Amino acid sequence: MTPAPESAPTLERLYAEVAPGMAGVDAEIAGALRAERPAIAEMIRHVSRYSGKKLRPMLVLLIGRASGRSGTAHHRLGAIVEMIHLATLIHDDVIDAAQIRRQVATANARWSNYEAVLLGDILFSRAINLLAKLGDARALDVLTRAVSTLCEGEILQNRHRMDPGVSEALYYDIIREKTAILYSAGCELAAHLSGAPAEAVQACGTYGLELGLAFQIIDDCLDLFGDEAEVGKSLGTDLDGGKVTLPVILALASLSDGDRLTWARRLSQGAADPGLRADLKALVQSSGALDESMQRARDHANRAKAATRTALDVRAASDLEAIADFVVARRK
Ligand code: FPP
Ligand code: MG
Repeated sequence: MTPAPESAPTLERLYAEVAPGMAGVDAEIAGALRAERPAIAEMIRHVSRYSGKKLRPMLVLLIGRASGRSGTAHHRLGAIVEMIHLATLIHDDVIDAAQIRRQVATANARWSNYEAVLLGDILFSRAINLLAKLGDARALDVLTRAVSTLCEGEILQNRHRMDPGVSEALYYDIIREKTAILYSAGCELAAHLSGAPAEAVQACGTYGLELGLAFQIIDDCLDLFGDEAEVGKSLGTDLDGGKVTLPVILALASLSDGDRLTWARRLSQGAADPGLRADLKALVQSSGALDESMQRARDHANRAKAATRTALDVRAASDLEAIADFVVARRK
């Protein structure tokens, strides 16, 4: 992947602006994740480090501010979405047998799959408990459906492991479900909790959905081409786990029928083929599939930006645009 440009967007200004709100989110998370038993408290402390960019609560706070009313309900919503996200990462690392996340050991590596699954369940149920305390019927409906969809996306993905026939449409279904829906839910509900008009609520949901698609496409490019030390998590797990992602789908589509068949055979053999990773990276790069995937991510970011321009004032829209730019420029 080409390095991030010198002038790569950073979120420093936005973090500074939402700092008081983020302190509110952190306080909600700390309250919700309190644990009496030292062993559980230690586990929760460890996985709290996976909370890095805090993009989801940041979006909740910015949309809340843009819609005119941002307070405790937004802090709570930001905390709920972040805790659900953390729970999914813990489970995802079990599924991917990942060893490193955010530069530290994954829960499965540090303890075991057994305990990591249960730790994910603890975070998830604490998030649902906080959702009950939020007391908003739409939030309960949207977020519980989002988590169900996310699990369905993961199952769909699993059913197509090592399947070189994964189409673009199927890939998009998977990433919409496993990643974009949670972004969309957080953004939609942030506007809803501010009492924004229906069109603005819907536009914020569309922003989140498109941003989430862009995020996952970049994530999938980084999994193949990123630098593990820089990204700070185990990479290459997609190929190891047989996940067929957009750069690979586009590279396969560029081949003649005969070459595609040869590659399909190699991909379905997976990790048993020692030269597969290097050869696949070379193919993805030389076929233009990496560039095309990055372009797709930019296209989704642009659609995200367009959605907010119709619904929010200029300042708020430009804040959300900065996040969209950041998501496609990120290299970690
Ligand atoms: C990241 O995939 C994974 C997700 C966005 C969703 C994972 C969701 C689950 C495993 C279901 C969890 C269910 C509950 C109830 C908590 P990735 O492997 O591409 O991302 P990565 O590179 O960050 O590992
Ligand atoms: Mg993973």
